[in-house]
Amino acid sequence: MPRADARHLLDVDALSDQDLEWLTARACELARGAAPASIAQTVVNLFFEPSTRTRVSFELAARRLGMTVVNVELDRSSSSKGESLEDTAAPLAAMGAGAIILRHPETGRCHRLAQAVPTGLRLLNAGDGAGHHPSQALLDLATLIDAGIDLRDRVVAIVGDVRHSRVARSDLAVFQRLGAAELRVAGPDSMLPDRLPSGIVRADSLDGAVRDAGVVVMLRVQHERMDRQAWPDPASYHLQWGLRTEHLAMADPGCRVLHPGPINRGMEISSAVADGPQSLILDQVRMGVFTRMAIFEWLFSDGART
Ligand code: NCD
Repeated sequence: MPRADARHLLDVDALSDQDLEWLTARACELARGAAPASIAQTVVNLFFEPSTRTRVSFELAARRLGMTVVNVELDRSSSSKGESLEDTAAPLAAMGAGAIILRHPETGRCHRLAQAVPTGLRLLNAGDGAGHHPSQALLDLATLIDAGIDLRDRVVAIVGDVRHSRVARSDLAVFQRLGAAELRVAGPDSMLPDRLPSGIVRADSLDGAVRDAGVVVMLRVQHERMDRQAWPDPASYHLQWGLRTEHLAMADPGCRVLHPGPINRGMEISSAVADGPQSLILDQVRMGVFTRMAIFEWLFSDGART
């Protein structure tokens, strides 16, 4: 197993090619029934933003490895009394927590906490503002690999609120590293980043984004990161940017559709596509558990595992 000294998972950029390969291959192996490791560690879920899939799948993954999971109820914790995140992490470590899984609205908060956590405490970034979402990118990749998709001969389109999406940022980084044939983004002007990373193409319309695409990743409009005046009207948004079956007819015949969830049906995606044969949306959720199991195995591979 690579990177025996792994301490945190803050973003995908810090992962070596070997790490990336090991993590996704291991997730696929676990999905096919490989025996998981047994890890005598405690993990704490610290979620300052709502979450269903990410929080539950980290918890299920930890339990399948025999770990103890604690979910901190933030409205009942000392952070509601003004305690800093650093002062929340230290007592958790003193009580024997081996890892904290952090979701936070502030971009960069997880990286900042990583500078200050007690030695031995590992940090998993479960999404920081519009920053990074490494476990989502890994599970997206594992889902594609598990579905037999080789990114090297696929055009990938990421459509919607790219500007505020930590998923888009992390996905683009891994898809680019894996050598996707072409990477496109598209969405309303106000929802695209001011500058795109080099090598990423901007498409002017949904049609232009999905034409010949082999993978389409649809994104939710992140209302919580915008002023209310900037919220689009759902029906007009759907007309211009909502993925419907007619769009899939323009894509590669084997095109598969991803969406990290939560889904707003009738806005960024139609039910016919979300529930249709080309959708991998529930596969992503399923692979999310195996990917997070692989992440824990990787994170505790240095003797902290028993
Ligand atoms: C995403 C997130 O929280 O960044 N969801 C997820 O983790 N599955 C995307 C979103 O909230 O739209």
